Amino acid sequence: MGALDVQLAGVGPEAGEEPLYDPGLLASIDWSGITYMKHGVTSATPGDGLTVRPLCKADYDRGFLKLLAQLTKVGDISREKFEERFDAMRRCGGHYYVTVIEDTTKGQIVASATLACELKFIRGCAKRGRLEDVVVSDDYRGRQLGKLIVTTINLLAKQVGCYKLGLDCKDDMKPFYSALGYTSEKGNDNTMIIRF
Ligand SMILES: CC(C)(COP(=O)(O)OP(=O)(O)OC[C@H]1O[C@@H](n2cnc3c(N)ncnc32)[C@H](O)[C@@H]1OP(=O)(O)O)[C@@H](O)C(=O)NCCC(=O)NCCS
Repeated sequence: MGALDVQLAGVGPEAGEEPLYDPGLLASIDWSGITYMKHGVTSATPGDGLTVRPLCKADYDRGFLKLLAQLTKVGDISREKFEERFDAMRRCGGHYYVTVIEDTTKGQIVASATLACELKFIRGCAKRGRLEDVVVSDDYRGRQLGKLIVTTINLLAKQVGCYKLGLDCKDDMKPFYSALGYTSEKGNDNTMIIRF
């Protein structure tokens, strides 16, 4: 039986449910050093009705883009454009880890964050991580999901071999990230950008 026959027989991921990256990576991250999560919450045990997993195409219909719109401008993104971008990220294998929390009781994406990995020559051809696009749906805030999704990305970055993980945030978000292990390094806490 070939791969197509297997798909037609209904074995393997449903259409649109293929993960952006290997979910086994999430299964293998080590939460043993994390002491600040209450009630034993981890990416493997996120709470009733919740699941932490890689983004998939079907999340277009689960409100993924509406969730991102709570963070910043998203624009009018057609399904076709969304799938093209998803496929481009997937082809880059090992660079884009868009991770979501789904409320499976409602079929809604309620939190998301991305680990973007940059390949370097420095430090013996190291890998540097960036935490991007952190958002929790406003009706799910204050329930540890922010801590959960950011810590998942922190541990995932370690798991895939990043030597450091950085982020850009507004001043008022610094306490949130400081509590999750991020620090401003003395003499090196300036982020500068050019917007186009
Ligand atoms: C910031 C955000 C992700 C936090 O999500 P959340 O699920 O409400 O966070 P948690 O419930 O995990 O809160 C964790 C802790 O951070 C604190 N916290 C939450 N939001 C905070 C904020 N904006 N500033 C400072 N501390 C904050 C909480 O009080 C909580 O403290 P505790 O552990 O002592 O109780 C969420 O408010 C959000 O999506 N905001 C809009 C998008 C955004 O600003 N993203 C970040 C871009 S850099």
